[in-house]
Amino acid sequence: MVNRLVNSTNFDLDFHYINERIIELEKVLSKYDIYNENKFREWFKDFRKIYGKNETNLRLYIVFALIYFVGLVFVANYILNEKSFISKYSKSIIKIKELEEKIENKFRILKIGEINYFAPIISLSEREDLPFFDELINRISSTLFKSNINPEYIFDYFIQEIVSPIFRHKSGEYYTPPFLVKKMVDEAYSFGEKTLDPCCGSGNFLVGIIKFILSQERSEEEKISAINKIYGFDINPISIYLSKINILFLLKDIASEISLNLYAFDFLFQIRNDLNGKFDLIIGNPPWYTYRDVDSIELQEKLKNLAERLEIKPRPKNILNLEISTLFFFKAKKSYMKNKAKIFFVITKGVITGSHASRFRNFKGFGDIRIWVFDKKIEKIFNIDFICLYAQKSQILEEPSLYEIPAYHFALEHNDINMNNYNTIDLKLKKEEILVPFSIEQKGEKVFIKKLISKEKLGDLLPLKESYYKDLFHKGADLNPRNLIFVKFQNVNDLLVKINPDDRIFKRAKAPWNKKEFEDEIIEKKYLFKVLKSTELVKFHVYNYYDVFLPLLKNNLSFNYVNLDKNSKEFYNKINNLYLRYKKETTTHNSLMENLNRWSKLINSRQTSKIKVVYNNSGSILNSAVIQGDFLITGDLSFYNTTNLNEAYYLSAILNSNILTEQIKIMKSSRHIFKLPFNISIRKYNLEIFTHQELAKLGKKGQEIALSTSKNALKKNKDKFSKYKIQNILKKELKSVLNQIDELLIKELKL
Ligand SMILES: C[S@@+](CC[C@H](N)C(=O)[O-])C[C@H]1O[C@@H](n2cnc3c(N)ncnc32)[C@H](O)[C@@H]1O
Repeated sequence: MVNRLVNSTNFDLDFHYINERIIELEKVLSKYDIYNENKFREWFKDFRKIYGKNETNLRLYIVFALIYFVGLVFVANYILNEKSFISKYSKSIIKIKELEEKIENKFRILKIGEINYFAPIISLSEREDLPFFDELINRISSTLFKSNINPEYIFDYFIQEIVSPIFRHKSGEYYTPPFLVKKMVDEAYSFGEKTLDPCCGSGNFLVGIIKFILSQERSEEEKISAINKIYGFDINPISIYLSKINILFLLKDIASEISLNLYAFDFLFQIRNDLNGKFDLIIGNPPWYTYRDVDSIELQEKLKNLAERLEIKPRPKNILNLEISTLFFFKAKKSYMKNKAKIFFVITKGVITGSHASRFRNFKGFGDIRIWVFDKKIEKIFNIDFICLYAQKSQILEEPSLYEIPAYHFALEHNDINMNNYNTIDLKLKKEEILVPFSIEQKGEKVFIKKLISKEKLGDLLPLKESYYKDLFHKGADLNPRNLIFVKFQNVNDLLVKINPDDRIFKRAKAPWNKKEFEDEIIEKKYLFKVLKSTELVKFHVYNYYDVFLPLLKNNLSFNYVNLDKNSKEFYNKINNLYLRYKKETTTHNSLMENLNRWSKLINSRQTSKIKVVYNNSGSILNSAVIQGDFLITGDLSFYNTTNLNEAYYLSAILNSNILTEQIKIMKSSRHIFKLPFNISIRKYNLEIFTHQELAKLGKKGQEIALSTSKNALKKNKDKFSKYKIQNILKKELKSVLNQIDELLIKELKL
């Protein structure tokens, strides 16, 4: 796997040049068998815990070595005031050793010696000339130091530019812009409080708090005492090294008086009894990766057990979406916060909307909860919808049904501001509102708090009553990896076809399933199945399908490997081996067929039924269609099988209605829709009831209109046909049908 370790944005760090040098050094280090060096092995052991087995490699080692060496040059330049270090030393690596000793002697508190992963590179440069690496360090350092970024944020910028998002996603290394840090520190930190950033990264929150302390009208003693109450943890030793350097840069004049309470430490699974229940404030931005992103079964197990111990473990169907940040929130309360202590995190919006966080939202043992929400332009800084979540540890158990959480919406003070992370950006309070759960579900001891919505919107929600159909709709089958089974075919004869991968499925395919793994394979035609996905679903119609190879019998979808026809058995063996080679360590299926039929979503009688009603499992608009014939349904659709065509049309009319889409928008958390429509009391179809008859007629009419409209649109502009286009045409064509449906539904659903 060749990862482009470094990406380039708008800064003149020449990443193409850096990449080439890194590849060059990788060759030299491999030649000198770095893999057998103890220090490299030590690094590998520590960093594999952070980035996982697939991403931890020699290139990543070199990138962190670069960061470490540039860090030393930073100390020389900005703390030892040896401005000429860069130019003076062509053979900088050797000089770096001297520099390490000098820094160690001058600033014992930095404990530079703790980081010695990269000693093999230094000793190699003593034996073998590495001019290109010297030059690399000098060029990066001089470019960074000439930038207009404040020195204490240079490494925030450098790490986020030089470590590719693929790696940073694994450890959640997306740093908080200083302008947001300042606003949060001003809101939550009071002078002299014992404060911890449990995942401090390059130290933006620690720097923010120290700047706050230094800006106060207080004596030097008071300031030093307050500074010595600031703590930072991070699982990445290099992050701690950078935090130390940034803080020393701010406090170099009083270095001898301060203690740098910064520790390379796994906040979730390591223990510091001496700091138990000692903090007044926990502030920061915990990693935003999920249980699904973890590629170690062992770590997944530990995370699941920790979530259970913290009483926030999601339901099994949501466990893959467990957000590691929610563990940080409750771990802080359980182990580090004093009673009445405060916690203030930047965190994904998913924790207040997603069904995977419905136990987290009990906020058990917390009070005075407040939420900061931001305009889209501000949300862009992280490319994921985020909030700031404030709470206070409290022993008073609050009744979930009573809780109302104030939410403060912030917008940019000046809309024309350039949203560069390092600019001073002022935020203004745009509005305040109260958030409440749209419903609360009790299952035995466990309480599940549904998505938080604004109290105003609660009034727009139809009465919630579980529908008769809730447990009758099922998700389709996750027919993945698609690059192995989605095909286009040509007939060879009545029984055989020649297959190649279907180009359509590669648009959004991710590694390792984004490659065409076969060409011109011959299989028996009887193993080709027609399959529907949500990508071609519009109101009342699915305008196209896919051909998929499945080693199953058509009549009952049974899988009998031994009896597979020769060609198809060979092909299945081929794709099955590819699946087993590339699958994640945490994926427990022992064959491709087992994976295709996970949770028995493929091999079941529902899939073989001739009449189905489908709707999309995610998205912001609810579309539904009645499907007749031999079509299998994939996992991005949910479906109900029936023998009653009118019942099918009745359901598709309701599911396509504007009313249901509005209700879904209020209730849905992130993109997922799944069973939400059935929180509304859609009644069992009854042909005696006039409204039901009318809805069925309108469902049929909607299908006729959608069918003819798509056909005409396809005929008119075959090449430029798109879902977006057909949906726009349908909006007009179906307007009257959808209005009639809404009129009927208003009466029906309020009954
Ligand atoms: C989103 S960054 C935040 C850094 C810094 N607080 C900021 O806001 O700029 C998350 C940090 O969490 C660290 N981290 C990930 N897992 C951790 C763990 N189990 N214990 C401590 N730190 C962890 C990562 O290394 C990363 O630096």
